[in-house]
Amino acid sequence: MVNAIVKQVLPALRMLASRENVLTIRLDDREIFSQIQSEEEVRELPFILDDSTILVVDETTNPAEIISDLEVKLSMWKEDRSWYPDYVWIKEIGLVAMAPNASQLDEMLGGTERDYSISPGRLLDKIAIVTGAAMGFGAGIAEMLFKEGANVVIADWNDTEGVKMADNLNKNLTSNRALFVKVDVSDPVSVEGMVTAVTKHFGGLDLIVSNAGVLRAGSLDEMTPENFDFMTNVNYKGYFLCAKYASSVMKLQSKYRKGYFTDIIQINSKSGLKGSNKNFAYAGGKFGGIGLTQSFAMELMPHKIKVNSICPGNFFEGPLWSDPDKGLFVQYLKAGKVPGAKTIEEVKAFYEAQVPAGRGCRVIDVFRAILYIIEQEYETGQAVPVTGGQNMLN
Ligand SMILES: NC(=O)c1ccc[n+]([C@@H]2O[C@H](COP(=O)([O-])OP(=O)(O)OC[C@H]3O[C@@H](n4cnc5c(N)ncnc54)[C@H](O)[C@@H]3O)[C@@H](O)[C@H]2O)c1
Repeated sequence: MVNAIVKQVLPALRMLASRENVLTIRLDDREIFSQIQSEEEVRELPFILDDSTILVVDETTNPAEIISDLEVKLSMWKEDRSWYPDYVWIKEIGLVAMAPNASQLDEMLGGTERDYSISPGRLLDKIAIVTGAAMGFGAGIAEMLFKEGANVVIADWNDTEGVKMADNLNKNLTSNRALFVKVDVSDPVSVEGMVTAVTKHFGGLDLIVSNAGVLRAGSLDEMTPENFDFMTNVNYKGYFLCAKYASSVMKLQSKYRKGYFTDIIQINSKSGLKGSNKNFAYAGGKFGGIGLTQSFAMELMPHKIKVNSICPGNFFEGPLWSDPDKGLFVQYLKAGKVPGAKTIEEVKAFYEAQVPAGRGCRVIDVFRAILYIIEQEYETGQAVPVTGGQNMLN
């Protein structure tokens, strides 16, 4: 029951309660709320301030009825007062705190108070998931989204690095917050659980960057069916699952706030635009990803959800290429893939020479494309190349 309320009621409530700026909201469903019987008992909780405003919802079984109840009560509330309620208490379920930013939510639900400043960014208080954000492109994108003021969810199956990443972002004394959620993007239960966890913690979802990806190169003779399935499940099916569960929350948001735009962005590759020798499992999944993007875009634009892919060139500075033990530069050097190359630098120079811009792709190059996609309301279904000129569209 709690999950149904999180998935259906919270995104609707976030929009219904908001005025010009969209709120951040959080459901607290700790055990204690199953025993609380009256508004007075809610007010006695140690973290509720004396002057807090609380709206009470009696209906607890049917999410659609909770939403209709909220629609009526919140429109009356808005007529009477110039503000929204601090809390909505849904009897037997829990307490929803509502605030302009996530730091305020922490305090309103009993977290430790801390000084913070409002980030001046272009994505202030947006809610963004980045899959595969524990390292590589994903980590860099998450960091830049955070700097632009967004609440960022580090979603990765690597919990050691993922938790570290979220903790580091949370050391910033800004109003937006980071959250780590462990996920396997190839598993539907795990992806649905990730979207539910994010909705419960921040109240909705404005952007998902489907970035988690894996690469195991190999010719037809070398590629095992198991490796092919593994890559297809992460790179191709993982994107479908992210779009499926993210869009269900996003659709509700545009239903209850007309004209509210959200974004699904897939980090594709230049290998999604041009075949890749002895790397077909990767290229095939990425080509397929563009087919998904175009099709999702048609289905979701009526809901103001834009769907686009970004096709970066090689990220030579990232771990996939530059890891000193198992990076592609070392592997290619050992395999003699670049004729005459005797050092890693020579292998790197060989690949850089293939890019008209003369260097590999960097996180900032991809991030500029992300900002363009988010801010541009008149485009969807595109595969935006960020390849330094290495791949040119027809
Ligand atoms: N590195 C490049 O040169 C390059 C170039 C173009 C596109 N890309 C694309 O960029 C994206 C990121 O690549 P990267 O090089 O930064 O990779 P990376 O290997 O450095 O990082 C990938 C991250 O994804 C996580 N991950 C992998 N499988 C997962 C799963 N099933 N569920 C959850 N998390 C998972 C890993 O734990 C890791 O944190 C990929 O989609 C890749 O195809 C990379």
